[in-house]
Amino acid sequence: MSQQHSAVDPAPTSPLATAPRGDWWRDAVIYQVYPRSFADSNGDGMGDLEGIRSRLPYLRDLGVDAVWLSPFYASPQADAGYDVADYRAVDPMFGNLLDADALLRDARELGLRIIVDLVPNHSSDQYEWFRRAVADGPGSPLRDRYHFRPGKGENGELPPNDWESIFGGPAWTRVEDGEWYLHLFAPEQPDFNWEHPAVGDEFRSILRFWLDMGVDGFRIDVAHGLVKAAGLPDIGGSDQVKLLGNDVMPFFDQDGVHEIYRQWRTILDEYPGERIFVAEAWTPTVERTANYVRPDELHQAFNFQYLSTEWDAGELRTVIHRTLEAMRPVGAPSTWVLSNHDVTRHATRFANPPGLGTQIRTAGDRDLGLRRARAATLLMLALPGSAYIYQGEELGLPDVVDLPDEVRQDPAYFRGAGQDGFRDGCRVPTPWTRTGSSYGFGGGGSWLPQPEGWGELSVEAQSGVPDSTLELYRTALTVRRTQPDLGAGDSVQWLRAPEGVLAFRRGEFVCVTNTSGESVTTPVHGRVLLTSGEITEADGEAKVPSDTTVWWTTA
Ligand code: NOJ
Repeated sequence: MSQQHSAVDPAPTSPLATAPRGDWWRDAVIYQVYPRSFADSNGDGMGDLEGIRSRLPYLRDLGVDAVWLSPFYASPQADAGYDVADYRAVDPMFGNLLDADALLRDARELGLRIIVDLVPNHSSDQYEWFRRAVADGPGSPLRDRYHFRPGKGENGELPPNDWESIFGGPAWTRVEDGEWYLHLFAPEQPDFNWEHPAVGDEFRSILRFWLDMGVDGFRIDVAHGLVKAAGLPDIGGSDQVKLLGNDVMPFFDQDGVHEIYRQWRTILDEYPGERIFVAEAWTPTVERTANYVRPDELHQAFNFQYLSTEWDAGELRTVIHRTLEAMRPVGAPSTWVLSNHDVTRHATRFANPPGLGTQIRTAGDRDLGLRRARAATLLMLALPGSAYIYQGEELGLPDVVDLPDEVRQDPAYFRGAGQDGFRDGCRVPTPWTRTGSSYGFGGGGSWLPQPEGWGELSVEAQSGVPDSTLELYRTALTVRRTQPDLGAGDSVQWLRAPEGVLAFRRGEFVCVTNTSGESVTTPVHGRVLLTSGEITEADGEAKVPSDTTVWWTTA
């Protein structure tokens, strides 16, 4: 018998239950929308809120529980909106507050929750406080809301310490009057000084503004960066950690950040409707990530250790085990994520040899990458906890690795030595239709050029095609929803498996993933629910090809 993601019989025809569920976020599948690149309603080549609103039914039908929107606030766009100039306004390129309200209303009617991005580590250099701080000169009380310092050296010509920007180059920029200010990211993103009470007051007010608007939660940008070690000490040595590393740095993961989140949690809990916080916290270990999701702090934190794991059964098993062990004591759900707007898409990461990290310049073997990406998705969706999907991964989109330099916008690219700066490749606008201008993204062009053949990966081209990646995601999300408790719980029961294979049981459900380069034979575990590739079964044994995941049930 040969099986290709054979569908289950999903009980409810609508994949979404619109009635509120208790603790909905513990096993939620959350879809990241990158507003610039999702859907463009006015044909200016830039995605917008109205475009997103028009595509909400697609997301409802895909079967996700919630949508996380990357920033859409007023911004000069020095870092694609992660440089906010007005936290309470929508950038005109994306629409206005009425559009945000309409989006929230429609989402609610469709049973989708909306999580917005909050950027508290830094503002734009065009934020009013910073503009005035610079204009008012040394001694201005507004400078205390950021990290202004005199320089070192005879004439203050050297930066105040040896920290480097995550995007490359020094983390300090000098203003005309000779003082320097700190920016862990681009110079247009000055870091707030969270020791100053006005900063906390401002963000508590911003939280309330969006909570009053009706958002279901916040993704906290650089959640691990708000508090800096007293005295801003030098790091010493040249091996400065960028995002994931083994050491706690004086600008990341300082214990003081937790007090901020305890305060925020009390605000959130005043509001009805189980709203949540999710932390973007790059910490050295999952155990330290768990500190962010203690019962009186945030609800979830992204699992970047999982995202950074190679396609290797042993390594995957280790990170899954460690994550579950780390989250259990604090009672928070584990989270799982394979792609986002900052890393090379996993279909391309897995197309390349291991050891290249999460910023990759080469297309690699695309068929291999897609096969592994599909298998990785079924593995991720079989794990207890909450899973994140980045827009376009349900189409199996690869990274666009050959964008010409003149269209690139990622500040990290221009600052060279930083994190490699290839983030534009995962931000190319979504193809919705086979043909047409910008493949249905909008009526005009697209802010980053879409490659030839993009239409063959479109929603239109894949809809209703049984073997397509889109249909695999749709079926997988339906199964996850209809299988009893697939996302619930905090443990898996590991099964003995050959080298290169990962196998676990969760009640009547069994997931087997073969990451090895060879087919393997495993026992049949009941009825096949879904597979990411073709398997064969005979005499109680299943032949699972390389880079394939199988879901079985004994029910
Ligand atoms: C993390 C965001 O995901 C990334 O896109 C941004 O550049 C940095 N934080 C700075 O805000």
